[in-house]
Amino acid sequence: MCGIVGAVAQRNVVPILLEGLQRLEYRGYDSAGLVVVHNGQLERVRSIGRVAELTEKSANTQGLIGIAHTRWATHGVPSLRNAHPHISKDLIAVVHNGIIENYEVLRTRLTTAGYEFTSDTDTEVIAHLIHSHYARGNSLLLATQASLAELIGAYAIGVVAADNPDQLICARRGSPLLLGVGIGEHFIASDVSALLPVTRKVVYLEEGDIAEVGRHSYQIFDAQGKRVERAVQISEMSNESVQLGQYRHYMQKEIHEQPQALADTLESVCNSQSLVPGIFGAEAAATFADIDSILILACGTSYHAGLVARYWLEEITAIRCTVEVASEYRYRISVPNPKTLVVVISQSGETADTQAALNYAKAHGHLHTLAICNVPESALVRLCKLRLLTRAGPEIGVASTKAFTTQLAALFLLTLVLAKQRGRLTTEQEQKHLHELRHLPSAVQKVLDLEPEIAILAEQFANKHHALFLGRGLHYPIALEGALKLKEISYIHAEAYPAGELKHGPLALVDKDMPVISVAPNDALLEKLKSNLQEVRARGGELYVFADANTHIQAAPGIHIMQMPEHAGYLSPILHTIPLQLLAYYVALQKGTDVDKPRNLAKSVTVE
Ligand code: G6P
Repeated sequence: MCGIVGAVAQRNVVPILLEGLQRLEYRGYDSAGLVVVHNGQLERVRSIGRVAELTEKSANTQGLIGIAHTRWATHGVPSLRNAHPHISKDLIAVVHNGIIENYEVLRTRLTTAGYEFTSDTDTEVIAHLIHSHYARGNSLLLATQASLAELIGAYAIGVVAADNPDQLICARRGSPLLLGVGIGEHFIASDVSALLPVTRKVVYLEEGDIAEVGRHSYQIFDAQGKRVERAVQISEMSNESVQLGQYRHYMQKEIHEQPQALADTLESVCNSQSLVPGIFGAEAAATFADIDSILILACGTSYHAGLVARYWLEEITAIRCTVEVASEYRYRISVPNPKTLVVVISQSGETADTQAALNYAKAHGHLHTLAICNVPESALVRLCKLRLLTRAGPEIGVASTKAFTTQLAALFLLTLVLAKQRGRLTTEQEQKHLHELRHLPSAVQKVLDLEPEIAILAEQFANKHHALFLGRGLHYPIALEGALKLKEISYIHAEAYPAGELKHGPLALVDKDMPVISVAPNDALLEKLKSNLQEVRARGGELYVFADANTHIQAAPGIHIMQMPEHAGYLSPILHTIPLQLLAYYVALQKGTDVDKPRNLAKSVTVE
């Protein structure tokens, strides 16, 4: 998704803007641009290539104040004319994340008023609107405030004016934005990682906030225009965690970080002798005692984590659980139940659909809310009564890996805490689960050792156009996740089915050109799964089986076995995810795709 960086300093801000944009590249974009105020003029540079190209084009650009942007196209194709910043009458420049829903009405009005549009974007109306108010003698702050009052939709914006070299204005509603506090300089960004080279002191703007930012001070006003103070926080994100280090891609690095990410997420629990609801917040015990069902809302990979959790929750806690794609739930007439615990799962905590689904649930009387999230300061965490933070560290690769497995760990903790509170977990069982959780990071490490073998296996997929993933029970969502990883980064069309469903349709697709990847844990459904695999083999399908020890599935012509460790019981989905991530990664390498920034996708989807 789009990224914003801005700076007002006593030094040339162009390198700061460019490095910030480079750090936001992982969010996904198709063009980039910046503008600085220099000698009373706006100097703009834009590029439809990578930030590296923008850097080359900006070699002779300098200024002490500027704003910059990476654009992920919504209104208007990726092109130079649609790239941000957008400028009105050489005076006002704007960068914008989000979507302005009433832009057509505003565009018609502004065109009639004599403004000439040079792009197809919704953003350009903001620039002209601010100009129209600024030209009437309002300050840049007042002109922006008046303009925002006319907008319907979501935005995070940065604004500069050619005749004001000392102030930039920024505002947010529905899209994240923060201020970075320096010494004699201030910054704005849509994501803290953009600012780490220049400051760790950040101020998160709240919904409806607008800020006037100068070199030595800044002022924030809330949606009602009242001056407000927002806390300065020290970001915990480390600069090294966003460096690539010895790895070829962030995705590979993040796959390998999973043992540590799981250990960090489980740290407090594994260091104690028993599970307590308090890990979800002070009000958790009372809230959990008051619920009779669970509703999980999420998107993408996080949704798959929710699907696994449903199996755990219903089986272990006997609490009814439903899982819904957030973008569907938010528009569906459903039956509210105030005794439902609404669980939102999100790596970023900023996904627009998940946020809207949560707000929709709350508006329908669901007050028991829990966020499982990787970003402590994010909107979803702030909106929920309870929270459990995964400690995966920043995830840069668009295809989510360590965020997913840590979400699973967090959801398993939720399951155990609820089961214990309901008297469905004996002390012995509790100790056994704690022991398995302590062992989990090293079990994951062992699976990572399969990497060289999977790299070789991936060669067989390079010329394929389709793939089918099979799983059963707890591992059906893992098949879904494996298929999602493969399509996201290798662009191979992949589908996942519960293995028992094969004969009801997808079997028609099976032939020698359709590789079938199966997750084969040594669990109660193993024998059923084996029969399903026979159905594939009998139709000439090539099988790739990730099999636990002692499954007795034999390698044979057309049956390739990848040997997994001992069956890990309830935690098995976490282990079985790892080889599917590696498979997708190595197939993408074979195909030469842009692994960390796959085409058309964005890391953090902050628009609907
Ligand atoms: C985007 C990302 C996915 C992610 C999904 C949900 O589509 O590309 O990797 O799973 O958003 O994101 P969230 O931050 O809410 O987990």
